[in-house]
Amino acid sequence: MGYHITPYITEEELRVRIKELAAQISEDYKGKEVLMISILKGAVVFLTDLMRAVSDDVSVSIDFMVVSSYGDGTASSGKIKITKDLSVDVTGKNVLIVEDILDSGNTLSKIVDILQSRGVNSLKIVSLLDKPARHVHAVPVEYTGFVIPDKFVVGYGLDYGEKHRNLPYVGIVEFTED
Ligand code: IMP
Ligand code: MG
Repeated sequence: MGYHITPYITEEELRVRIKELAAQISEDYKGKEVLMISILKGAVVFLTDLMRAVSDDVSVSIDFMVVSSYGDGTASSGKIKITKDLSVDVTGKNVLIVEDILDSGNTLSKIVDILQSRGVNSLKIVSLLDKPARHVHAVPVEYTGFVIPDKFVVGYGLDYGEKHRNLPYVGIVEFTED
């Protein structure tokens, strides 16, 4: 099956919205420390733009985690395994999870459980995209960039078979018969 990519959220729209999210985050964490945790790989493009838009009145540090789904096949019902853990201790920290997209919520809900169990001081989530039609697990997301329909999207970090992460915009993948 072939496919093509139709632009959906432009570079300019991303820039404007990320600035708004960062302004809100800058206000909420003013004078505090925040550890931004990005789940590789999809959220890395968003993290790098978001962190640079946050005011220096916030003391920002970053770290990364890699998780993979395993167990019974589908990502939405499977368990997750930490493939690469954080390099810092999160005990007592204000953690902001930076995600690319909230789909079923499986991954995020499990990461929230893991981080809570490590005794964080506070835990919030910022997700660039949200697909409400797909939610299976309730995940409290404080900051959402764009609510999108139930379509498969790529670009700005998001992939289809590891490709198209480099697109500077978000596009919808449209599958064709040929
Ligand atoms: P969840 O555990 O079902 O919420 O899956 C979330 C992860 O699936 C995201 O972090 C993405 O890596 C991936 N994902 C979900 N929807 C899309 C999409 O439309 N395009 C690309 N990746 C997606
Ligand atoms: Mg991801």
